[in-house]
Amino acid sequence: MSNSLAVADDLTRRTAAAAVDEPFGVYVHWPFCRAKCPYCDFNSHVRHGGIDEGRFLAAYLTELGHFASLAPGRSVSSIFFGGGTPSLMRPSSVAAILAAIAKHWRIAPNAEITLEANPTSVEVENFAGYRSAGVNRLSLGVQALDDQSLKALGRRHSANEALAALALAKRHFARVSFDLIYSREGQTERAWQDELKLALSHEADHLSLYQLTIEDGTPFAARHAAGSLKVPGSELASALYQLTQELCERAGLPAYEISNHARPGSESRHNLLYWRGHDYAGIGAGAHGRITAHRAKRALSTIKSPEGWLAEVEAHGHGLISDEALSTEEAAEEYLLMGLRLAEGIDLDRLAAIGGGALDERRLSALESDGLLTRKGSRLAATPDGRLVLNRLILELAA
Ligand SMILES: C[S@@+](CC[C@H](N)C(=O)[O-])C[C@H]1O[C@@H](n2cnc3c(N)ncnc32)[C@H](O)[C@@H]1O
Ligand code: SF4
Repeated sequence: MSNSLAVADDLTRRTAAAAVDEPFGVYVHWPFCRAKCPYCDFNSHVRHGGIDEGRFLAAYLTELGHFASLAPGRSVSSIFFGGGTPSLMRPSSVAAILAAIAKHWRIAPNAEITLEANPTSVEVENFAGYRSAGVNRLSLGVQALDDQSLKALGRRHSANEALAALALAKRHFARVSFDLIYSREGQTERAWQDELKLALSHEADHLSLYQLTIEDGTPFAARHAAGSLKVPGSELASALYQLTQELCERAGLPAYEISNHARPGSESRHNLLYWRGHDYAGIGAGAHGRITAHRAKRALSTIKSPEGWLAEVEAHGHGLISDEALSTEEAAEEYLLMGLRLAEGIDLDRLAAIGGGALDERRLSALESDGLLTRKGSRLAATPDGRLVLNRLILELAA
């Protein structure tokens, strides 16, 4: 074996060995919603005739068994029920999935177990049941704090219902986060300032604040193309973003990721695991996973159609539609892409260990002089200005 090959082999071995001790997450995707919001392109589906939840649950338990065989011996540090709308699940289904995860892997004693919930009254009734099932963190999809905006977003709850759901969530869960969408049609800096201040006064330990994205194929995209939906231009959108950073920082919830703000120590450990490039199993229709096995990081994804996924799991024990080993270059690029979203940035030594080699020194220095990147020891991070133009930054670094 040539010397450089031996070094590369040693690095891969070390990376693979490290994965076993690193955080490991389980993502559970529930692909159903009561109604489809006009801006959303997540893998979420409406089934007016209802679904056979018992049959779906059995399939989740089967698929979990398959993923456990792909990632044996791991200790689960976080579990995330996302969607879709997982708060449409019966608490007993959530409990059964958690019990199956505990059967296949070891769940770390302080594991973070999050469930995404919509704040309509029916779903709020399940909060106590989710807590009893073992969920210890709730993420509420509030989206806006005024009724007119909620209506424009096609949401089925009022601002008062959202606030009541938040109060109830805080009674049941030690950790609560909520989502807002800003940069909405007609939103001024003043209006967002008032709304965000109101949001911050409700003392969640974590906020996800997303700029409205016009996603292809959604009703919002069609209205945007036709000119009947007008969203803030890039100048106002940047001003709203800066305002978000300032207000959250002042309230003690700095951004730890482009759209995520937390009191120090209350960051979403599950989402950190994605951005830090750790492994996770993703089960349910249209879920993604990353599992290090046979010295390579594998990218896995399942069939998007809920019924297609169900049939596949029932026939073959899993709904995987793709399972590819990432090349070292692809794995390194993914680490760069995800890691630079974080305020803490990436570890250049880890980038090199994954196989990324050294970044171009001249380019790095130029981006530092432009105030878009900072370096401290082996850490490289985008500045707040850099995070605003992250795509450009990553293209330049990866070139
Ligand atoms: C997968 S959704 C699920 C949460 C839950 N079903 C709900 O709607 O409250 C996660 C979050 O993504 C955000 N989101 C979805 N589509 C978006 C878009 N087009 N632009 C910005 N944020 C979006 C929303 O804030 C939403 O809460
Ligand atoms: S935003 Fe949430 S509730 Fe609305 S369609 Fe998407 S996943 Fe479903």
